[in-house]
Amino acid sequence: MERTLILLKPDAVQRQLIGRIISRIEDKGLKIVGLKLRQFPTALIQQHYAVHKERPFYKDLVGFMTSGPVVAMAIEGKNAITVMRTLIGKTNSAEADPGTIRGDLGMSFSNNLVHGSDSAESAATELALFFGDKDEICSWTPVTQTWVYSSEEGVS
Ligand code: RTP
Ligand code: MG
Repeated sequence: MERTLILLKPDAVQRQLIGRIISRIEDKGLKIVGLKLRQFPTALIQQHYAVHKERPFYKDLVGFMTSGPVVAMAIEGKNAITVMRTLIGKTNSAEADPGTIRGDLGMSFSNNLVHGSDSAESAATELALFFGDKDEICSWTPVTQTWVYSSEEGVS
C-alpha cells in the first residue's frame, strides 16, 4: 500500500467541486486516511512548491494556492501515487483526457483543480508537510477492501 498527498486547490473549493472530486477518488476504490480544509500559510505552500522556486510562474502559483481554502487529503491504495496522477490528468486541463478530473472539470493550466504527489519521495515529504501530526492520519480498513482488490494482489 502507498500513500499520496492530494490537494483540492482554491478553484475546486470556490467552484464547489469538493464533493464531486472526493467522490471520484472514493469511487475508484482509493481510501481517505487524512482530510482537512484550511487556508494554508504562504511559507508552507512555498515549501510545497519549492521545486519550482526558480520558475517564472512560481510567484503566481504560490499566490493562487494561498488565495483561499484548500482541501488536503492523504490517500491510500495500491500504487496510489500513479493511480491518482492518472485520475487527475495532464497539467493543462484543456488538454487533459476526458475521464480525468482535470479533463472533465477544467479548462485552465493554472487553475487545474487538484494536486497529486509525483513520486514516492515527494509523497513522503508532502505528507509530512501537510499532515505532520501523526494523529491526523487514520489507519483503517474499509469493509469493501476484499472486493476492491483480489486476494492475489497482496492487499490485506
Ligand atoms: P501539481 O504539482 O499542482 O499537482 O501539478 P503538476 O504536477 O501537474 O504540474 P507541475 O509541473 O508540478 O506544476 C505545478 C503547478 O504549477 C503551475 N504551472 N504553471 N505556466 C506554466 O508553465 C506552469 N507550469 C506549471 C500549474 O498550476 C501546475 O499545476
Ligand atoms: Mg507537480
